Amino acid sequence: MSKNSVTIVDNRNGNQAEFDILDPTIGSPAIDIRKLHGELGLFTYDPGFQATASCKSDITYIDGDKGILLYRGYPIEQLAAHSNYLETSFLLMYGHLPSNVEYHEFVGIIKRHTMVHEGLKQFFNGFHHDAHPMAIMVGVVGAMSAFYHDSLDINNPRHREISAHRLLAKMPTIAAYSHRRAYGLPLLYPRNDLDFIENFMYMMFAVPSEEYKVDPIAVQAMRLIFILHADHEQNASTSTVRLASSSGANPFACISAGIASLWGPAHGGANEAVIRMLEEIKDPDEIPKYIERAKDKNDDYRLMGFGHRIYKNYDPRAKIIRQACYDLLEIMDNSNQPLFNTAKQLEKIALEDDYFLERNLYPNVDFYSGIILRALGIPLNMFTVIFAMARTAGWISQWLEMMEDKEQRIGRPRQIYTGAAPRDFVDLSKR
Ligand code: CMC
Repeated sequence: MSKNSVTIVDNRNGNQAEFDILDPTIGSPAIDIRKLHGELGLFTYDPGFQATASCKSDITYIDGDKGILLYRGYPIEQLAAHSNYLETSFLLMYGHLPSNVEYHEFVGIIKRHTMVHEGLKQFFNGFHHDAHPMAIMVGVVGAMSAFYHDSLDINNPRHREISAHRLLAKMPTIAAYSHRRAYGLPLLYPRNDLDFIENFMYMMFAVPSEEYKVDPIAVQAMRLIFILHADHEQNASTSTVRLASSSGANPFACISAGIASLWGPAHGGANEAVIRMLEEIKDPDEIPKYIERAKDKNDDYRLMGFGHRIYKNYDPRAKIIRQACYDLLEIMDNSNQPLFNTAKQLEKIALEDDYFLERNLYPNVDFYSGIILRALGIPLNMFTVIFAMARTAGWISQWLEMMEDKEQRIGRPRQIYTGAAPRDFVDLSKR
């Protein structure tokens, strides 16, 4: 019997088998149960994959109990303090911090891919005037599959790299256009004299009739949001990208699937849901009523921006962004002040309430990013789009890694069938 193994005994019949334990660099080891069904005729049951590692990955590490988040080994706090989004994207994609030459080359490549095909721009006119920008993102990013045939051979590493660059570079352009469409504003060409985030802000807010001045405070806050959201291990949208890709689908279709998954309020839609919740609460005096609803077992209501599947002590991203959020609210003379006061009160009350303390329900990154985006005047329905843009670095890095992984198979979970036992068909006339 190997020391680094686990023996599973089926108490019903005494059958047993030994399974290897796989050791990560850091973190919890995992039992390799790939032969479980062959050896013991059993499957595992794990809805929501709470205890299942779906892959080996070198990219991101999270320790939810200690509140640690590392990208390629680098603490998120250090990246947030010193890096920028494209440098962080390079790190996620290629596994090391770029040299000076690599960095400038990468920035140049991404800049050269920022424009979208003129034909793709026509798509924006086809959407309903009040379409949610996330709906547009799902459609248009998926539609990129129809435009870039020159690099769609997923078995060619160079093609994969070009597709990854295109996705990273074009996401801000598509995101800005998904916003402009609703307001009937012209779709502006990207400006390659601006940096990645400045260019996004320009395409979002500039008008051709006036000079546009990029607000450095807004750019700095966005830079932080982008770095903090760039990757997060095997979360729902990343797992969706991997599952979709496991069948050999093209990366544009797979990232579109990831965007769809991110949209939900339990995931990336939470930043938007936070503001909707604060707007609904309105008056700080009403907060106790909403806290009681969140605690009521018979009410589905949840406080948006609280809790996390993995972080059970605190969300390290929230710790970083909370400070930035408070700093920003100090300097911004903002008509949203009543809403921010409600947010501060809610944060305080929830952090003192036993229900939230016992369940480790702390404000998460989206609680604060939602408030920051509102303070910056970003339209509410663009909040999750911004999350999607930032997470693109993670999605493409995870996809590139997966495509190189010889152990990956088509994703195919099993089930515990709870339906009818075999029975005979009854002719319609006899039913
Ligand atoms: N408000 C009130 N109660 C909550 C909340 C909340 N936001 N979140 C969890 N609970 C309760 C839940 O009712 C349960 O109580 P009990 O043990 O009495 O049944 C307990 O806490 C555990 O909840 P869970 O649903 O088993 O926890 P989970 O790990 O499956 O869910 C979550 C994590 C993030 C989906 C959930 O906390 C939630 O829905 N939060 C609000 C949405 C949100 O802010 N999402 C953004 C997450 S951060 C961004 C990202 O990484 O995507």
